[in-house]
Amino acid sequence: MQTKIDLLNTKIAQAQLGGGVKRIESQHKKGKLTARERLHFLMDEGSFEEIGMFVTHRSNEFGLEREKYPGDGVVTGYGTINGRMVYVFSQDFTVFGGSLSETHAEKICRIMDLAMKNGAPVIGLNDSGGARIQEGVVSLGGYADIFYKNTLASGVVPQISAIMGPCAGGAVYSPAITDFIMMVENTSYMFVTGPNVVKTVTHEEVTSEELGGASTHSAKSGVTHFSCANEIECINNIKKLLSYMPQNCEDGAPMLPYETSGSELRPELNSLVPESPNQPYDMRDVITGVIDTDTFLEVHKNYAENIVVGFARLAGRSIGVVANQPAFLAGVLDIKSSVKAARFVRFCDSFNIPLLVFEDVPGFLPGTDQEWNAIITNGAKLLYAFCEATVPRITVITRKAYGGAYDVMNSKHIGADMNYAWPCAEIAVMGAKGAAEIIFKSEIMADKDPVAKLKEKETEYIKHFANPYRAAERGYIDEVIRPEETRTKLISAFRMLENKVDKLPKKKHGNIPL
Ligand code: HXC
Repeated sequence: MQTKIDLLNTKIAQAQLGGGVKRIESQHKKGKLTARERLHFLMDEGSFEEIGMFVTHRSNEFGLEREKYPGDGVVTGYGTINGRMVYVFSQDFTVFGGSLSETHAEKICRIMDLAMKNGAPVIGLNDSGGARIQEGVVSLGGYADIFYKNTLASGVVPQISAIMGPCAGGAVYSPAITDFIMMVENTSYMFVTGPNVVKTVTHEEVTSEELGGASTHSAKSGVTHFSCANEIECINNIKKLLSYMPQNCEDGAPMLPYETSGSELRPELNSLVPESPNQPYDMRDVITGVIDTDTFLEVHKNYAENIVVGFARLAGRSIGVVANQPAFLAGVLDIKSSVKAARFVRFCDSFNIPLLVFEDVPGFLPGTDQEWNAIITNGAKLLYAFCEATVPRITVITRKAYGGAYDVMNSKHIGADMNYAWPCAEIAVMGAKGAAEIIFKSEIMADKDPVAKLKEKETEYIKHFANPYRAAERGYIDEVIRPEETRTKLISAFRMLENKVDKLPKKKHGNIPL
């Protein structure tokens, strides 16, 4: 028996070396960890159980029959993160550049099947040169199998992708279907076709980093939700992100024990909104002023900054926050911000995470650029996402709620449960100046001092509509509240809503305006 155990030990040691010491050194030289080192930092100590350590590829072409590595370039298995079960795969760049073979794909699909059956998140650590070129179409089939599983798992269990090296060709589409993507600055990139192909086809000269690095995808394309300074930061971010999510769509959002430490009033909020409606302020100050200390995890921080989205805790309860940002483009809704917020709302709704909306929005951004790029369709995505969300939904209007944006930003009319407004809220079809110019046009033109007349009419409109009380009279606003009591009101309201049951009409699935 001992000889057999010794043989097993030798085989395990060999598998743990992946593509060998030289390639491990080369990985380290690039500033990257190996697949197993990443798992070591990600999983609770001693909790990782590997599945398929001795799986090898079945290819006999281009000399591959002479080159086999146990595990075939991906470490798969399960274990815990902060005590909670997750399924995980970690691609090993030291084996054929982490490229995806038939068996490599089967291993990933296996843990996804287990995750679905057992209701636990899937985490993918991607570091791969794409399809295993020597395997041809078999490898492409393997990718398609993964895309299919990703799609079936979407909305059933949370899926998180970390990009920790190259991610090229079809390989980008699996992460794109998952819920969140993290990239590591300077060592990871994602693109459908690399710089060489780009040069041939479009004659553009571009580096890998410019084309598909972390800063490009976090600020320009929005493909990645997080850009991390290094791999350890990336791994820590995965753990943090996971802490706000339930295990699956049947679970409630995580609730941490919470004890109040003194007064829950936040007097500093009373002076946060400037007197002038045209002066900006940072909506993040409102968010952090209301939620539990140091609990805001912003998603898509550098993308479409006119809307802020992220996870937070309120009296220990995990919530999703969506907030217009008056400090950037006056908080206007445009194509990018609508799509960014819509996807976030849909994630929260899929996984029973209540939604809190802070609203200060002057409307949708006008112009040919927006119209020609379909602000109608894209703005409708956010509208649709809120309309179909059945989780507890609360809105606080901190200042402007104008035009269609009033309707879209989680208004009572589209299913919000509680709508609050601060006393400085302005809820109207449009800003006072624009409104006065339209409805009093002839009166203003006929006046001997049109400028003074416009001012007079503007003041009249402000008196009528630049306040929250007309909406409150109608019941569109449930309560006008002092800013300092926002936290206490929200804690009570979310507690009141915690057993909310709301169902959409029976259907196969809706048809969101994609
Ligand atoms: C097989 C591969 C491979 C691949 C890399 N390797 N990519 N083996 N199939 N796709 C191997 C290399 O032969 C090498 O083996 C080792 O991995 C490391 O690769 P290097 O090139 O030395 O590393 P580096 O310089 O860091 O460059 C990494 C890389 C480059 C940028 C990823 O290897 C590369 O461009 N690879 C090809 C990318 C690609 O075009 N993939 C196909 C995409 S199409 P040794 O033995 O020397 O260690 C696709 C279609 C899917 O994915 C469609 C689904 C719908």
